[in-house]
Amino acid sequence: CDFTGNRGSLSGKHILVTAGPTHEPIDPVRYIANRSSGKQGFAIAAAAAHAGARVTLVAGPVQLPTPAGVARIDVETAREMLSAVDASLPADAAIMVAAVADWRTADAAGQKIKKDGSGQPAPLALVENPDILATLGRHALRPKLLVGFAAETQKIADHAQAKLAKKGADWIVANDVSGAPGDSVMGGDDNAVQIVSAQGIESWPCLPKQVVADKLIEKVAHALTLSAD
Ligand code: CTP
Ligand code: CA
Repeated sequence: CDFTGNRGSLSGKHILVTAGPTHEPIDPVRYIANRSSGKQGFAIAAAAAHAGARVTLVAGPVQLPTPAGVARIDVETAREMLSAVDASLPADAAIMVAAVADWRTADAAGQKIKKDGSGQPAPLALVENPDILATLGRHALRPKLLVGFAAETQKIADHAQAKLAKKGADWIVANDVSGAPGDSVMGGDDNAVQIVSAQGIESWPCLPKQVVADKLIEKVAHALTLSAD
């Protein structure tokens, strides 16, 4: 990648990024998860470090190398991710790319759940996980710029607009994952995103995730410069 135009544009800034899925245990050998690869979030953390920022990357369980110059905190569950994010504040900008599991089991079993011979599956009670982005949106240490991601399969811009308001974010970066599983977005190397904000909707063409990351970080640097005193 020869994109070097933003080198140094984030020097002195702390950028907090979440990436990857979360895993919510059912029992010691099973968990609830999703198809997030972590690639887009890791690329954003790398781009922010390349631009001179101090970067904290809170990563769910993914097998990806830590980008150069990035401080990585590995977590498993949504609640661990929230604690790590909270402990990493203050930050100038937070970019929440993680595909946080919306629900966890009400009580993870201490032992492997066994079939009981009845042919009926064991009931699985779920409870909602905390919303990390929305928590930051109303936090006393709310980052000056708060960016969420939204993977949608339909009415992409409408759903992103609703999430902006609901979560108190400045931008929602929305992408279309309607082709999953096995499509080019979840797990793939390319992404076509729309950036939804109070200023309107900006649509980018399908680009490599690394280029999406570079362009997004350039936009973040610009926004932080504009908002500086
Ligand atoms: N998010 C979060 N914590 C959660 C769920 C989502 O921080 N418990 C963040 C994601 O990291 C992302 C944004 O919120 O930046 C939007 O995630 P998404 O799953 O699209 O939103 P939800 O509110 O969970 O809505 P949906 O019912 O469409 O899944
Ligand atoms: Ca969700």
